[in-house]
Amino acid sequence: MATVYVSRRLPESVMGEFARRFTLIGNPSDRPATRAELLEAAGSADAMAVTLTDRVDAELLAKASRLKVVAVYAVGYDNVDVAAASRRGIVVTNTPEVLTEATADLTWALILAVARRIPEAERLVRERKWEGWTPTQLLGADVFGKTLGIIGMGRIGRAVAQRASGFRMRVLYCNAHPLSPDQESAMGVQGVPLPRLLHDSDIVTIHVPLNDSTRGLIGKSELSLMRQTGFLINTARGAIVDETALIEVLEQGRLAGAGLDVYPQEPRINPRLLALPHVVLLPHIGSATHEARVRMGMMVLDNIAAVLAGREAPNRVGGA
Ligand code: DGY
Repeated sequence: MATVYVSRRLPESVMGEFARRFTLIGNPSDRPATRAELLEAAGSADAMAVTLTDRVDAELLAKASRLKVVAVYAVGYDNVDVAAASRRGIVVTNTPEVLTEATADLTWALILAVARRIPEAERLVRERKWEGWTPTQLLGADVFGKTLGIIGMGRIGRAVAQRASGFRMRVLYCNAHPLSPDQESAMGVQGVPLPRLLHDSDIVTIHVPLNDSTRGLIGKSELSLMRQTGFLINTARGAIVDETALIEVLEQGRLAGAGLDVYPQEPRINPRLLALPHVVLLPHIGSATHEARVRMGMMVLDNIAAVLAGREAPNRVGGA
């Protein structure tokens, strides 16, 4: 039986299936794998199932003696040096599609939470400070009928756009590859350059992968184009936004709020963010539904099984 390393505990049904099909080694706990554990696994496993907290770089891949596949339990694979893996003939896979709707739902949860100040309101009640209804308490912003700007019109961006039609929103997007005019009219969206999207949108939401061209994509000058009444939502990767620049515009009241699920140095959160009441902070839970996490695990397993059986991986990323 092939030896498969799983870097940390996945949902029970997924772990059961791994144990049934392979000789399972790895970290049975919920804590992130240590660097030493990952390096050792690279030298002893036929396949590695890793999460977004595991750095799979050239140093680690150089230890691989029999490793054939690194299967990432995430759609984003910025933690893996795919080029270095390709050079060694090691396949890298990810988990697209199965978490699209869960992440789009969470994006909408953040949009509504930040626009309607849900966490502040909930804290008021929970802390027993609510003294009854008032005409001016905790006023937020309308979402219905506003303009939504979607940066990145891949699977998740499109799923977010679909939900916007229920809120009768005007939807702008920008993407490296624009949709065809037919697709735009079918989806009711309009492609625009990034500066225009930032300027014209009430809510801007980010759905691009993290790579060399998107790192720091939203910096000081981009944020200065946003409306003072605007909201920025990020469920993609923290490093896409210049966090210091974001904090400055929020502190100075040049942006109304932000909804963040991701951060540049997870799990570290900048204390200045924690001090801002009009920012909703979540602990990277975009795909965190029971259903999505089981589907992700089964997809990881299918990719590993395919490569170990000499077949093409269904969700291979990067080079041939
Ligand atoms: C991903 O898949 O990239 C998410 O960030 C975690 O599920």
